[in-house]
Amino acid sequence: MSFLSNRVQALKPSPTLALAAKAKALKDSGLDVISLSVGEPDWDTFGEIKDVGIEAIQRGQTKYTAANGLPELRKAVAEQFLRDFGVQYEASEVTVASGAKFAIFSALQAVINPGDEVLIPSPYWVSYPSMVELAQGKPVIVPCGREQSFKLSAQQLRAHIGSKTKMLILNSPSNPTGGMYSDSEWAELGQVLKDNPQALVLSDDIYNRLVFNQRGVAPHLLESCPEMKSRCISINGVSKSYSMTGWRIGWALGPQEIIQAMNNYQSQSTSCAAAFSQIAATAALERAEESVKASVQVLRQRRDFIVSELQKIAGIQVNPPEGAFYVWPQVDAFFGKRLGGKEIHDSKDFAQALLEAENVALVPGAEFGLEGFVRISYALEQPRMAEAVERIKRFVSNRT
Ligand SMILES: Cc1ncc(COP(=O)(O)O)c(C=O)c1O
Repeated sequence: MSFLSNRVQALKPSPTLALAAKAKALKDSGLDVISLSVGEPDWDTFGEIKDVGIEAIQRGQTKYTAANGLPELRKAVAEQFLRDFGVQYEASEVTVASGAKFAIFSALQAVINPGDEVLIPSPYWVSYPSMVELAQGKPVIVPCGREQSFKLSAQQLRAHIGSKTKMLILNSPSNPTGGMYSDSEWAELGQVLKDNPQALVLSDDIYNRLVFNQRGVAPHLLESCPEMKSRCISINGVSKSYSMTGWRIGWALGPQEIIQAMNNYQSQSTSCAAAFSQIAATAALERAEESVKASVQVLRQRRDFIVSELQKIAGIQVNPPEGAFYVWPQVDAFFGKRLGGKEIHDSKDFAQALLEAENVALVPGAEFGLEGFVRISYALEQPRMAEAVERIKRFVSNRT
């Protein structure tokens, strides 16, 4: 007999965990493991933000806040959105959560009924389908291959959207590909959405300041289609851009009714995000833009390095990412071959054999819903990356 609910029994544990556990075991045994699998910046939270958080604790700002977060943070979020995209939100149309992940989770809980369909282009961030299932929705995966730069096209959206579609989830720039929707691509998708008033959009903007364009921010659906404001939930947070993953602050901007439901959901679950983290996050939005720009410069150099090095390896194909800190090389040319003494059938075999043969950890593409690729995080220092590339080169040329 199991005491477990059907809900959690259906929940798939992330297969990356097994690989991560193996990488850790190898490291603990004294081996020089290089991890290209991390989902967070390798630099510290900026000093000016840490100081604000420490001062907040010293002042005693260590108690509950309102479930939807501190008014000054919600105001800073709305002001940043207005500066970035020219779209106005009231502070009451913003809710603060313990990380963007919980903001996505509670948004789904707030709007999904059993059986509602949620369109998710693949490759996708690993958590979307599971979170949809936990809300009793039905993930509808739309494969988006390399020929379309892993982005959903308007034609595909038109083909898949229907009366049962409650939501479309989009993530730009994308984890895992680093691809980003342009203004014209947003406009084309918006055209299809206009004809489908039953569908909401959840725009996961968590990487939108870690971008390599002139503007320093990724284009947003609401710039091209402001009329979608009544059907769009925008998610963001301080985790990635401000290197604050452990502070656990994210947020959502959206229609009042949905935001209010998320507030209620949060009030009965997490109560609120940590008070001092909210204060530090407010400082991040108000005064850390120059530090973000400086880290983007570093990321750009690392991106250029890893892309050019990977492009030199016969059998690997890779597009330069436009944002985030991931590259998404195609490795299926090695499927059916022997590498590092192992037969390689899929991306999981590739990742496993690479870890065993060369102590380099990366994430198999299958986890993101698209086979044939692997995800490499370049949130690590260039000398380590150079060493990792040498090991990958050795691995793919060791066809025994
Ligand atoms: C696409 C995407 N969305 C959301 C998140 C969650 O961010 P947070 O740390 O704010 O919960 C992540 C983190 O890995 C992510 O990659």
